[in-house]
Amino acid sequence: MAVTVKSAREIELMRAAGRILAKVHQDLGDAIKPGMSTFDIDKLGDEMIRSFGCIPSFKDYNGYPASVCVSVNDEVVHGIPNKSRIIKEGDIVSLDIGVIYKGYHSDAARTHGVGEISEEARFLIDKTRQSFFEGIKFAKAGNHLHQISNAIAGYCEEFDLGVVEDLVGHGIGQNLHEDPEVPNHFQTKRGIRLRKGMTLAIEPMVNLGTYEVEWLDDDWTVVTLDGSLSAHYENTILITDGSPEILTLTEREIAELSK
Ligand code: MF3
Ligand code: CO
Repeated sequence: MAVTVKSAREIELMRAAGRILAKVHQDLGDAIKPGMSTFDIDKLGDEMIRSFGCIPSFKDYNGYPASVCVSVNDEVVHGIPNKSRIIKEGDIVSLDIGVIYKGYHSDAARTHGVGEISEEARFLIDKTRQSFFEGIKFAKAGNHLHQISNAIAGYCEEFDLGVVEDLVGHGIGQNLHEDPEVPNHFQTKRGIRLRKGMTLAIEPMVNLGTYEVEWLDDDWTVVTLDGSLSAHYENTILITDGSPEILTLTEREIAELSK
């Protein structure tokens, strides 16, 4: 599929979808408490998405059975919500959520610590988020796509973190997954030239140990091969002639990030 460039009208809809998703992430993240199951988190997230008049993008996508991917500790992405999986203090919980608003998708992920978490878990979450911001320094019309990938990979390498290679970010719009693929690991080719109006979901998945992952028998849940912790940070962004517009941040996040 070709890479799409969005019109002014489409960009407005992508902004609206992003604003809603950012709010859902914030409210759901705030609601996570020890004792909740991953099923409870999905249910609450599904209700929030629908309360804003959106459709959850992930539900039934290629047979995925839930609205929120809930991945705990060594689970990298695509964890399937389960009534018997109970969240406890010290866990790290990655929430990946997609919404559709008036036909346009928005996609974002955050990793939350539950109560008090280890110093290394906090380190991983912070570096994973920062790797996204290092990457998007290059997300600008005229630059090449893989400048983003190499910046993310270079930053994570400095801290000896494992950047997952088997899953990548993607273009997004009327479809959840559009071209181009947006890898987070080092690339030798430069990738496509970025143009104003492209919308991308950039999503580093980063492990404390090896970059290698495997799939569980449920055919969805991706876990680290060595059992180390994994974090995920994703936003949907709009390419402009200057700094990209991040469509999936709340005002609170913007304030926190500028500290
Ligand atoms: N953020 C993930 C992605 O971009 C979510 C897809 S999960 C699925 O691929 F359930 F929709 F498959
Ligand atoms: Co995505």
